[in-house]
Amino acid sequence: MAKIIGGITTSHVPAIGSAIARKVQHEPYWKPFFDGFIPVRQWLAEVKPTTVVVVYNDHGLNFFLDSMPTFAVGCAPEYRNADEGWGIPQVPPFPGQLDLSWHLVESLVDEEFDPVTCQEMLVDHAFTLPMALLWPQQDWPVKVVPVCINTVQAPLPSARRCWKLGEAIGRAVQSWQADERVLVLGTGGLSHQLDGRRAGFINKEFDLKFMRSMSEDPTWATRFSTEDLVEHAGTQGIELLMWLTTRAALRGEVRKLHENYHIPISNTAAGLMLFENR
Ligand code: DHB
Ligand code: FE
Repeated sequence: MAKIIGGITTSHVPAIGSAIARKVQHEPYWKPFFDGFIPVRQWLAEVKPTTVVVVYNDHGLNFFLDSMPTFAVGCAPEYRNADEGWGIPQVPPFPGQLDLSWHLVESLVDEEFDPVTCQEMLVDHAFTLPMALLWPQQDWPVKVVPVCINTVQAPLPSARRCWKLGEAIGRAVQSWQADERVLVLGTGGLSHQLDGRRAGFINKEFDLKFMRSMSEDPTWATRFSTEDLVEHAGTQGIELLMWLTTRAALRGEVRKLHENYHIPISNTAAGLMLFENR
């Protein structure tokens, strides 16, 4: 039987890719952000996950406004990155964990979720950069299953719906007949808004409340409507839905091992949390 060994939630900002390329991780602007990942990488070296379910939101690389699934699951043997226009180097392709992809799809449909299944899928900075933060050599010692949630075009799935999706992902992984150690990685947030009159908006108080809730009262954010979450966290801060989905996938005894919070990275309040799932 497969085991969920834990969850990691982190922000994703394209500028991380250029910082890696320019090797400026130790400069004062970047150090408080990159240093946050040191304990996470130590933990990964100890627990050695074999499979990663990556819960992220595509920003227009694979899905565009003409066809926008609410939920999509990658069912491809391999996932490639491509140019998004940020001018950052592309990363090597990720090997897909096809067996878990199809098991997850079957399990989700059985539980009355109806994800789009993608037998070809490009993965954008929201997928590639968190993976590069966890495995800086970019040699990907794991196989992956992308789970993509729409945060781009209204209507978005509610926080409650994302919580339920996460629970269903957790059940699917647990019922996967494979001797694998599975990590759930959720990427996005925390508060930021890239457009409109509130461009540059950051809400530290809300972010810290949300991070505390992730360990102390994990369903706390499900009380908010999408509009309320946007009000509190910004139009792109809604990406915290990936954190919520990830947290919901962790079952049994869950212990927070590490967290980091730093403002700003580009226009974003950068958060990081590591949970162990026993
Ligand atoms: C930024 C943040 C994001 O979440 C994203 O997808 C793109 C850019 C930023 O702060 O620059
Ligand atoms: Fe984003």
